[in-house]
Amino acid sequence: MSKTFYLTTAISYVNARPHIGHAYEFIASDAIARYRRMQGMKVFFLSGVDEHSAQVERAAKEAGLPTLEFCDRMAALFRDLHEKVGSGLNGFIRTSEPRHHDVTQEMLRRSYQKGDIYQSAYKGWYCYSCENYYQEKELNNGNCPVHNRPTEWIEEDNYFFKLSSYSDALKRHYAENSEFVYPETYKNEMLALLDQGLQDISVSRATTKWGVPIPWDETHVAYVWFDALSNYLTGVGFLKEDELFHTFWPANVHVIGKDINRFHSVFWPAMLMSTDIPLPRQILVHGFIYHKGEKMSKTIGNVVDPYSLLDVYGRDPLRYFLLREIAFGQDGNYSEDALITRYNADLANDLGNLFSRVLSMIKKYRDSVVPHAAGTDDALRQKTRQTVETYTTQMDRYAMHLALVTIWELISLANRYVDEQAPWALAKDEAKADRLDRVLLNLAEALRTIAVLIYPIMPDKSEDMLARLACPILGECPFLTDLDHADATAGKTVTPGSPLFPRIEK
Ligand code: MSP
Repeated sequence: MSKTFYLTTAISYVNARPHIGHAYEFIASDAIARYRRMQGMKVFFLSGVDEHSAQVERAAKEAGLPTLEFCDRMAALFRDLHEKVGSGLNGFIRTSEPRHHDVTQEMLRRSYQKGDIYQSAYKGWYCYSCENYYQEKELNNGNCPVHNRPTEWIEEDNYFFKLSSYSDALKRHYAENSEFVYPETYKNEMLALLDQGLQDISVSRATTKWGVPIPWDETHVAYVWFDALSNYLTGVGFLKEDELFHTFWPANVHVIGKDINRFHSVFWPAMLMSTDIPLPRQILVHGFIYHKGEKMSKTIGNVVDPYSLLDVYGRDPLRYFLLREIAFGQDGNYSEDALITRYNADLANDLGNLFSRVLSMIKKYRDSVVPHAAGTDDALRQKTRQTVETYTTQMDRYAMHLALVTIWELISLANRYVDEQAPWALAKDEAKADRLDRVLLNLAEALRTIAVLIYPIMPDKSEDMLARLACPILGECPFLTDLDHADATAGKTVTPGSPLFPRIEK
């Protein structure tokens, strides 16, 4: 397994405030980054904002602000959302930065020199929401097939990229790298697209000045997707910081939503082939969050604001809810009711109660010190070990919802174990002191394991639990190898404290 890991989120358009879909992508990506760090990898986690879109320019006009000033404000909001959800970012990129300008121009130059960019007239339909050109046959009664909004007719002189000449190379790449696009349904969508045959695409716009000028013809700016995709190179030092770039490129994973699959899985690899840059290892596609069964949109008025949810419920519960409720790769529904129900059932009841029960018993029966004990191997011990194995397999496949189910099976077993072993009864009988020691140690070890395993999803609660078990996080994170050392809690003084997850009244 590689020792370095470079992952990215999509860079968000700054034409509107961030919504829960953005928060979801940030959280899922951060959980992956944290998991890889926990495996001992050196991780670079990049996110950022996409500023050169026509929609952004329009939104700035509507707000009555110069475009860049508008972008400054909006970029700050996205950066702030990362902080609020707890993203451990290593880089944040804005496509209006000079370092990115240079990279986009270099990419265009290389492709042009290769003979992959040529000039021609463009006539066709354009959707400003996806910043994508469509053929007549792809439209839904004249509307964009993704946004179901009217497209606009565009006629201009453009530079085109010879995407069509990369069909075979892309097909070969897919055949040789069976998980290049993952999960499989999204790969199949791309294979179908490749089978239909690819059309060349326009990579410049002559009607706006907002963007990166085409280096050999400054009357045009780069098409926003050509510019945006190149951010993954800029963000990790391409052209400027060789050591950083060579340490982390090619990216291990680009995390993206399903609506932008074709840009990442067809256009981007073709761009990289054209510019002789190695391809990312994987495009990891997630589904969409719907609200009240519908796609979120300003017109419908069902956009969910992540800031107020973070204020009310806190970041770890929101992270838990989104990653547990939505099977990664599939679509899911957001509802505040479901959030509260999961919070009370899974967090306050199952995990919170287990933690406080066990710590107060250690306090009561062993003066807060986790006992040393021999002969601890029993069903709970076995389940604890097995949980780590199953969890690792699931997290390696990015099935974070399943990894959480696995942890919660251990939590349920531990709760049953408390009821069955009845430490309060063992405590009454001096002859059963050894057995009580074993039971308390096994429970403390199960809790330590749970605390480590929830780290990627609930980093703050993980840290809190480990501190109260007197096994604090010493480095940048807990490591999975910490779990190779059995009985690390033995002899440690625990601190029960206040409930981990106070119940929420609806
Ligand atoms: N700027 C482009 C991406 C360029 S990447 C080189 C873009 N921006 S976006 O702001 O519209 O979307 C950013 C990310 O959020 C995308 O991965 C997108 O799929 C994701 N989501 C947007 N709405 C979403 C939901 N409702 N649910 C889940 N993710 C969603 O596309």
